[in-house]
Amino acid sequence: MSQHWEGKVIVITGASSGIGRALALALASDAAKLVLVARDRERLQSVADRCQALGAETLAVAIDVTDSEACRVMVQQVVERFSRIDALINNAGISMWGAFDDIGDPQHFERVIDVNFWGNVYCTRHALPYLKQTHGRIVAISSLAGLTGLPMHTAYSASKHAVNGFFESLRIELKPSGVSVTIVAPDFVQSEIHARSFDANGTPLGYTLPDHASFLSAERCAAIVIDAMEKRKRLVLTSLRGRLGRWVKLFCPQLIDWTAKLTVKKAYRR
Ligand SMILES: NC(=O)c1ccc[n+]([C@@H]2O[C@H](COP(=O)([O-])OP(=O)(O)OC[C@H]3O[C@@H](n4cnc5c(N)ncnc54)[C@H](OP(=O)(O)O)[C@@H]3O)[C@@H](O)[C@H]2O)c1
Repeated sequence: MSQHWEGKVIVITGASSGIGRALALALASDAAKLVLVARDRERLQSVADRCQALGAETLAVAIDVTDSEACRVMVQQVVERFSRIDALINNAGISMWGAFDDIGDPQHFERVIDVNFWGNVYCTRHALPYLKQTHGRIVAISSLAGLTGLPMHTAYSASKHAVNGFFESLRIELKPSGVSVTIVAPDFVQSEIHARSFDANGTPLGYTLPDHASFLSAERCAAIVIDAMEKRKRLVLTSLRGRLGRWVKLFCPQLIDWTAKLTVKKAYRR
């Protein structure tokens, strides 16, 4: 057990499943004080129960991160209960799958931006005064899709590019305060996001991607995130192809476009 997080107050959004849940369970073993945020109260409570069994103190707060006022009240609850915030992991996210041309109701597109971008902005804004007091850490779970475009994922990719732009800028502003900003850009990870991803009409995909078993496990992804947060890294990519892709894009961007098209075609085949 690492002593690093013992007693530290860590807010994790999207803690009811996937990467967020894995983060919570991993940090619970380090006896952190965990604030678990997501909409589904029951699932959140079951993660909280498991974390407590592992040695963590927990506060489960069921809110929608697209509601700024709810995010403010959540932060207030955290401070009332634990008096401080040492880290905020902006992880809550959703995905959308479909050609831009096929999107009927723009609300579906906007919802992706609301959750993936504005949710991060609201939580960060309200937690920031307390993070400054502890010289704390902000982590954003972005995506490879935040570093390069993906066909059929215009909303998702746009939301993650916005996340990167926001946090890259904020990092510079916060340098004198001692608050660090870490951006994690995972490749595919085993989680529920793929089956929950909705199409151009807002209908959830409802099935897991065929290659799901070959994706990085949520537990391994969580370990990478925790290491990056501990070392206050700037940007972490979870796959070799992601890291290589950043260099290839500089010299041969068409090759990255081609790879992105092929990757999406393969991932979403039925
Ligand atoms: N899995 C991948 O392949 C992959 C790759 C790159 C990046 N990521 C990013 O990793 C992050 C975590 O996703 P995941 O893969 O672990 O997916 P997941 O299993 O679907 O988990 C998403 C979490 O976000 C929460 N959430 C969704 N909408 C919310 C809202 N409006 N308000 C509050 N919480 C909300 C969900 O809980 P409720 O439904 O209970 O609210 C859930 O806890 C996301 O930002 C995603 O974009 C994932």
